Amino acid sequence: MREIRIVGGRPLQGEIRVQGSKNAVLPMLAGALLNRGQTVLHGCPGIADVAAMLSVLERLGCRVDRERDTVVIDAKELRDCRVTGEDAGKMRSSVLLMGGLLGRMGQARIAYPGGCVIGKRPIDIHLCGLSEMGVSIKKEPEGINAQGRPKGGTIRLAFPSVGATENLLLAAAGASEITVLDGCAKEPEIVALCEFLQCMGAEIYGGGTARIVIRPPKRLESAEYRVPGDRIVAGTYALAAVSTGGSLTIEGVDRAGWRGQLYPLQLLGAKVLWKEDRAALGIQAPKRPAGIPFLDTAPYPGFPTDLQSQMLAVLAGADGISCLQETIFEQRFKVIDQLRKMGAQIEQAGNLAVIEGTSPLRGTLLEARELRGGAALVTAALGAEGESRIRGVEFIERGYENICRDLQQLGGQIEMRKG
Ligand code: UD1
Repeated sequence: MREIRIVGGRPLQGEIRVQGSKNAVLPMLAGALLNRGQTVLHGCPGIADVAAMLSVLERLGCRVDRERDTVVIDAKELRDCRVTGEDAGKMRSSVLLMGGLLGRMGQARIAYPGGCVIGKRPIDIHLCGLSEMGVSIKKEPEGINAQGRPKGGTIRLAFPSVGATENLLLAAAGASEITVLDGCAKEPEIVALCEFLQCMGAEIYGGGTARIVIRPPKRLESAEYRVPGDRIVAGTYALAAVSTGGSLTIEGVDRAGWRGQLYPLQLLGAKVLWKEDRAALGIQAPKRPAGIPFLDTAPYPGFPTDLQSQMLAVLAGADGISCLQETIFEQRFKVIDQLRKMGAQIEQAGNLAVIEGTSPLRGTLLEARELRGGAALVTAALGAEGESRIRGVEFIERGYENICRDLQQLGGQIEMRKG
């Protein structure tokens, strides 16, 4: 069994270029189904979720070539519109293939993605929107059977769901008429998807606002696009720097993507400096971070739920009492019991965690059970006293290309071991 071994207590120092964004690239890979030509994506991260999505695309009939961080997808010979339970179980984002398949072939059969450890994660907003676009949706025992080319129309999302906004954008780019989406998610990854679809020839207005208007072209063209840097990986490394009292420069980050992430870092006592000429962010952490009296997660531009666990890890070692509220997912505090094993004092009441900072946390044997919770354990272990061993590495690899390499480069004492 592989495990990550960390000896904590060394301040992270130096410069790092962040990998391409997982949450931006996954809908783009689904979007590659829409055109009959080639899609070239640069800056594609080498993570397990991307590998899983690429193998689903191959099974559907796409040709996939990969050279370093450039992926070329040729969807000319697309022949299948079914996504099996095995694929859907491996990767929740396979639900995004629905929009791409409907836009290209007018049909999609997708096994239910199911819930996951962080919450129930229904897809009712996706399905409701597609149905309002004229697609027939049947819930069959083995999955969703969606039939009919999307027509377009005016759709109001009940909640600014990131995945539903993306699925509907993909369907709208392949629809026969104009679509107006109201109540959209505004995340930077949505803006990137709009830009990518524009490269394919779709006319899109309002990406990054609540109302997006999509005029589909007669035919979607081949496209070439560079995936933006991953703001969640960058945020994880920034929080790891704070956990260790270090100072970092993170390259390849976009300032807009950091609305909602910067202020909480400053509340911890970190100094943050933008280096506009290099699209880089400098972070200088205090010796010991300050507790934050109250912080909650929220849709963009609020504090992202994908950094909540890593923030919890930092607050566990901070000076003073903090309250952290999770408002997006129902069960995103699973990491608390692992942090408690390190000596953290955290009380949970529903979606609220009250943290009494303890310093130093102690290294120990830990178990990652999901992606960001795993990253939080790495964050805590780097700042803790002594040795930690983290199991469940495969969860971390779903979203981090090579977390050990990156943190070693910053002076962290961290390595992957075959246990
Ligand atoms: C995406 C991100 C994930 C991030 C999340 C919130 C990707 C691949 N994943 O997930 O990393 O944590 O955004 O920023 O980009 N909901 C419904 N019905 C729906 C859809 C969503 O009730 O049809 C609920 C979900 O259960 C959840 C909330 O809305 O409680 C937010 O979900 P959503 O924004 O859709 O997240 P994802 O797209 O799944």
